[in-house]
Amino acid sequence: MLDAKNLNVSYGRIQVIRDFSFHVGSEAVGLFGPNGAGKTTLINSVIGLVKPSSGSVTFQGQSLLPFETHRIVRMGIAVVPQDGELFPIMTVLENLKIGAAYIKEARERIPERLEFVFKIFPILKERVYQFAGTLSGGQQRMLAVARALMSIPRLLILDEPSVGLQPSLVSELFEKLSIIKTEGVSILLSEQNVRQGLKVIDRGYVIENGTLAIESNADDLMHNEHVKKSYLGL
Ligand SMILES: Nc1ncnc2c1ncn2[C@@H]1O[C@H](COP(=O)(O)OP(=O)(O)O)[C@@H](O)[C@H]1O
Ligand SMILES: [Mg+2]
Repeated sequence: MLDAKNLNVSYGRIQVIRDFSFHVGSEAVGLFGPNGAGKTTLINSVIGLVKPSSGSVTFQGQSLLPFETHRIVRMGIAVVPQDGELFPIMTVLENLKIGAAYIKEARERIPERLEFVFKIFPILKERVYQFAGTLSGGQQRMLAVARALMSIPRLLILDEPSVGLQPSLVSELFEKLSIIKTEGVSILLSEQNVRQGLKVIDRGYVIENGTLAIESNADDLMHNEHVKKSYLGL
């Protein structure tokens, strides 16, 4: 599905990603690493916000590098950026509809799609006419994920969705991600919260200083000495 190979990315003269390769199939994949490791840069390279100096990014066999973000979204990739980017003085329903607005198939299937996201996030159905800005932090994060799902993505990319949420809300949000996975949506999850992230993902990559530190399945990551020491506090 998504295949990134030998990516190198620089900001000006500073190289922040070195020869990094990763792929996402029909599964949930983690991109774990500390602040500044390069997680957002990799995501932005996939969705056309950053141009790698070398390497390739393909989605279902087609190169994404020539395309702008809106076109990449139309190919079936939805992103929940770190800051959520909701419209605070629009209602929950309006925010959700915007998620479908730029894709013809999604526009034509809005009622069915709303039903789908309300099934996963019943709280949003209860608050459908409330302004997004008046939701709690946890609910706003759920709305950001639900809005991304409105575009009928095959791949959902989330950039550190746990940031700023209290632990119980992180658990709740990540349980939703597990449900989304069972609905046939592939997931690429960037996280510093490796402990919670490991509950959702099938496989993961650890990125440190822009290079690959570890690539493994969730079970092996959980028992990896470096992961335990650096990310799980064990
Ligand atoms: N727009 C930018 N211009 C210059 N340097 C940047 C820019 N964005 C990120 N960086 C630097 O690139 C490195 C990787 O950042 P980032 O991809 O945001 O990491 P992460 O998402 O893992 O925290 C960091 O050293 C960061 O300071
Ligand atoms: Mg980041």
